[in-house]
Amino acid sequence: MPFWAVVVLVVLAVAALAAGAALFLRDRREAVGSRTEDPPTPRPEGRRRAAVPSQRSSAEPVPYQHPDRRLLAPPPMVGDLPLRDWLVHYSARGDQVWPTVVATFYDRAAAVPEIADYFGRSDMVRLQQHFARALTMLTGEGLTAGTLRRLQDAHLPVTNAQGTGITPAAYDAAVETLFGVLAEHGVPKGALTQLKALTGPMREAISRPAPSETGSRA
Ligand code: HEM
Repeated sequence: MPFWAVVVLVVLAVAALAAGAALFLRDRREAVGSRTEDPPTPRPEGRRRAAVPSQRSSAEPVPYQHPDRRLLAPPPMVGDLPLRDWLVHYSARGDQVWPTVVATFYDRAAAVPEIADYFGRSDMVRLQQHFARALTMLTGEGLTAGTLRRLQDAHLPVTNAQGTGITPAAYDAAVETLFGVLAEHGVPKGALTQLKALTGPMREAISRPAPSETGSRA
């Protein structure tokens, strides 16, 4: 092979190597560049954001969703049964005993002017259903802060014909009437004493001082 041909071959080989190396380096640069210039891909970004809402939402006010279940007084017990269940088992009327207690209570209350005066404008059928539910809750689960608040709200606008709110005397008369009915249905004295303790905070929440008492304090 003539010398010039060897030189040409060497030059061509070097040129080919240089071109190959240049192409390789360009591909590498593009690959690296595309990784650094690309905006963050949605997946990792999405994952990072997914952790954020729990932090953000913890700073927002937590909506009030649950009734306040804090127990202020336990239910009256007879043996190891709450009064609600005990009376259902004990009474011949079975699960009709509580509606009967409520109906009798309202009949009696209607005959006591001091109490009846407050019920003049009420839907008595609806009221008796509400009262029966409240009573079975109090004697089955006890008094919770949420129940106390709801009872307070429900009675705040209640007035008699003279525009007077429920006085402590009217409250006591109503509760005594109820206790009389319960005693007639065989509720033992011990359970009535416990029920009286449970209705103590309710007296504070439901009744308001009579106008004469307010006047004498002022
Ligand atoms: C043991 C005590 C009491 C309990 C457990 C009780 C329970 C209830 C309940 C559950 C309601 C229905 C609330 C609602 O509509 O969401 C209610 C309404 C009412 N309560 Fe009582 N209550 C008590 C004492 C009294 C007393 C002492 C009076 C009056 C002397 C009274 C007068 C009324 C009246 C007039 C309403 C109807 C209000 C309306 O028409 O919207 N309650 N009560």
